[in-house]
Amino acid sequence: MSFVITTPLYYVNDKPHLGSIYTTLICDSIARYKRLSGEKVIFITGVDEHGLKIQRTAITNGVDPQTHCDEISNIFIQNWKDWDITYNKFIRTSSNKHESIVNDFYSRVMKSDDIYMGVQKGWYCVGCEEFKDNQDNSPTRKCPIHQKNLEWKNEENLFFKLSKYQSQIEDLINEPSFIQPNERRNEIINFVSKGLKDFSISRTNVSWGISVPDRPNHTFYVWFDALLGYVSAISHDMNNSSLKESINNGWPADIHFIGKDILRFHAVYWPAMLLSAGMKVPKKVFGHGFLTREGQKMGKSLGNVLDPNLLLTKYGKEAVRWYLLKDISLGSDGDFQNKRFVDIINNDLANTIGNLLNRTISMSRKWFDNRVPNVEKLNKDITLELYSKEAIKNYINHFNSYELDLASKIILDYAISTNLYLNEKQPWILIKDEKNIPFVSNIIYNVLESTRILGLLLLPILPNLSSKIDTQLGSLYEKRKSWNEQLLWGLLQPNSYLPAPYPIIEKLEYE
Ligand code: MSP
Repeated sequence: MSFVITTPLYYVNDKPHLGSIYTTLICDSIARYKRLSGEKVIFITGVDEHGLKIQRTAITNGVDPQTHCDEISNIFIQNWKDWDITYNKFIRTSSNKHESIVNDFYSRVMKSDDIYMGVQKGWYCVGCEEFKDNQDNSPTRKCPIHQKNLEWKNEENLFFKLSKYQSQIEDLINEPSFIQPNERRNEIINFVSKGLKDFSISRTNVSWGISVPDRPNHTFYVWFDALLGYVSAISHDMNNSSLKESINNGWPADIHFIGKDILRFHAVYWPAMLLSAGMKVPKKVFGHGFLTREGQKMGKSLGNVLDPNLLLTKYGKEAVRWYLLKDISLGSDGDFQNKRFVDIINNDLANTIGNLLNRTISMSRKWFDNRVPNVEKLNKDITLELYSKEAIKNYINHFNSYELDLASKIILDYAISTNLYLNEKQPWILIKDEKNIPFVSNIIYNVLESTRILGLLLLPILPNLSSKIDTQLGSLYEKRKSWNEQLLWGLLQPNSYLPAPYPIIEKLEYE
């Protein structure tokens, strides 16, 4: 059994933005954690390439849609490499294997008698690829998300009988574990309670899409097509993929991570589609919050879009990962503030964790011949050992509940307590009297051992920083033992060699 985790499949109208990096980093961190905990993971990401929005972007750029999609998809793949994203499957919805899955799925839904021809009239947002309610009937209505005029549509479309699944969807969304966080669940319960309406799943005015079998001029509605990307990603076969194969290889997903704006599609439309096809629904849908910049919504028209690649080259991935994962509570909106970013990286990573490691290694090298001290059995002080056990327990609980910010804060608190311990014990005073050497050995060993455990706890969140800590402690990270086993107290070898310290992360300057 694999743990299946997904990012949204990103539109290829543009290169990745901070919002796409954010969700992908969250999933990467969880996937790493699950693997370290011994689970087999299928981490799915990819791109959503069809539909009117992409068709128009390609026309504006003067290229055919496939060429446009190839170009942007490659940028996504390169970006995920630059950010060290450990995905297992990257799905492109313009691939052959995806098309086979969509056709297979459509035939199942047809067999369930859930498709009929109807007329779709309404106001459409091309940015959202979604019909919007228009209670006041104003002809110049704008999309509240994109601030662009909605377009009037009136055409013959195929419809999916969503209304048939009203009671099954109600049961599903009432299960407390299905939608997280809770306040988002209430929004969906409220929406469903108003009564589900059938939705159109084909288009006659969009050529850039998968053709609907036996319906000339109809292509599948981009969302009906894209959601299936989560299923086609799992199949191994590049050309003749089938739903059956994906089901055997790991479907259903354990968790879909998405932004709050697309929760309805994932928590209502998608499960109903799957039920119609006789497939299992995802176990959980997590709708995270939105990122703003210095308190303002980011947007091209505002000219304040933060380029993630600039952040990457300027500050490095570890700094960005720490800020986004530790400072923003997963369900809530988060604000990117430059001053706060610099302060957090300097305080948490450079000072609290980096200096702790640096100064303790320097003391140990100076007093114990470039080595980890020998631990005296007598006078054993278990303060930090107890602290580490408590920290590990809380960290695991938080990670298992997808509270990445709280798990990160546990690491930081542990580092703060270790610093306090060192400052209280003052080994630099004790060492002046030779008879204190056993005490000093214990103190330094305890602190070094704490930094080893801190490094291990950082591994899913800041993998590069974690490996730098390991190198500083003499490259102890032993691949033969599992991560869980290595979290046991006391594995740092007394008398082992300690390399000369260097700053594991550079301090950042204000702009
Ligand atoms: N293609 C669809 C998803 C299909 S999934 C089968 C889509 N793509 S998107 O590229 O527009 O958005 C991808 C994700 O980025 C969404 O989860 C959306 O919520 C998220 N974000 C867009 N702007 C964001 C912020 N400013 N902050 C955080 N996430 C944001 O929707």
